[in-house]
Amino acid sequence: MRILVTGANGQLGNEMRDLAVKYAQHTYFFTDVQELDICDAQAVQAFVAENGIELIVNCAAYTAVDKAEDNADLCDRLNHLAPAGLADAAERVGAALIHVSTDYVFDGTAHVPYTEEVAPCPNSVYGCTKLAGEREVMARCRRAMIIRTAWLYSEYGNNFVKTMLRLGRERETLGVVFDQIGTPTYAADLAEAIFAAIEQGVTPGIYHFSDEGVCSWYDFTVAIHRLAGISTCKVSPLHTDEYPAKAPRPHYSVLDKTKIKRTLGIDIPHWEESLARCVARLEGDKNLH
Ligand SMILES: NC(=O)c1ccc[n+]([C@@H]2O[C@H](COP(=O)([O-])OP(=O)(O)OC[C@H]3O[C@@H](n4cnc5c(N)ncnc54)[C@H](OP(=O)(O)O)[C@@H]3O)[C@@H](O)[C@H]2O)c1
Repeated sequence: MRILVTGANGQLGNEMRDLAVKYAQHTYFFTDVQELDICDAQAVQAFVAENGIELIVNCAAYTAVDKAEDNADLCDRLNHLAPAGLADAAERVGAALIHVSTDYVFDGTAHVPYTEEVAPCPNSVYGCTKLAGEREVMARCRRAMIIRTAWLYSEYGNNFVKTMLRLGRERETLGVVFDQIGTPTYAADLAEAIFAAIEQGVTPGIYHFSDEGVCSWYDFTVAIHRLAGISTCKVSPLHTDEYPAKAPRPHYSVLDKTKIKRTLGIDIPHWEESLARCVARLEGDKNLH
């Protein structure tokens, strides 16, 4: 298959690149904004047609959740209008589209894991634009699969794991919120799930994917430091109102993965197991406990 991966320099895009080596039977076109700006609908359409693309995996997005509150136009172009253009381009040539979305389409007032049937209700600019993008994709492309994920980290790019490793070594104390609950997701695990969907043929619809298990950002930080052997930094639990952020965050955004596990027949690792793999890669195995 001829596969276009957009946003290929990001966390998920890089994990897709790494895993593509294992799926060498396909021809890949890894692009980021320099090669293909997904906001340029004409360029997207031309690229898809000229290269005989049969499947698009959209890893590009505006992901700076707090900055999005002040950059709503740019965020909307990337997360809402650009996916519409990708969906049109796919539909025009009968290609499939795997589009990645977020747990932030929910407001986080639930107390049980969110299934795909729960009505979204975002409470941030980022969440609103991602939901608008989902709706465009579903309306415009018959062969579209939307995968909502959460708390993504990777050895690539900037993310929470890398920040906590750095702060753990720089500081003696660190406060992290303990009243926001979700599930960390190693982008390499999400890439595995995307390849499972590619191999089995895209089954259209909305799906939830994160790693298994549940934790707070505080628990996540404690685990990151433990796995990296950082013992000189005391991590304390904070309430959300003690750590003000520009964009509101869902207090509870655990995703129910039953549908994707049944559809693709996949097993998903527990978040601590995957975190250990990522920290080992980041730390070169030497400090892993
Ligand atoms: N990160 C999370 O915690 C999280 C959580 C839930 C869901 N998600 C979703 O998961 C997906 C992947 O996220 P990620 O963390 O891998 O994102 P990321 O690391 O921010 O990567 C996004 C990539 O898209 C590129 N890009 C920006 N504008 C572009 C354009 N106009 N055309 C083409 N590429 C462009 C970015 O380049 P620049 O860096 O140069 O801008 C970057 O390389 C996204 O859909 C995101 O919404 C992420």
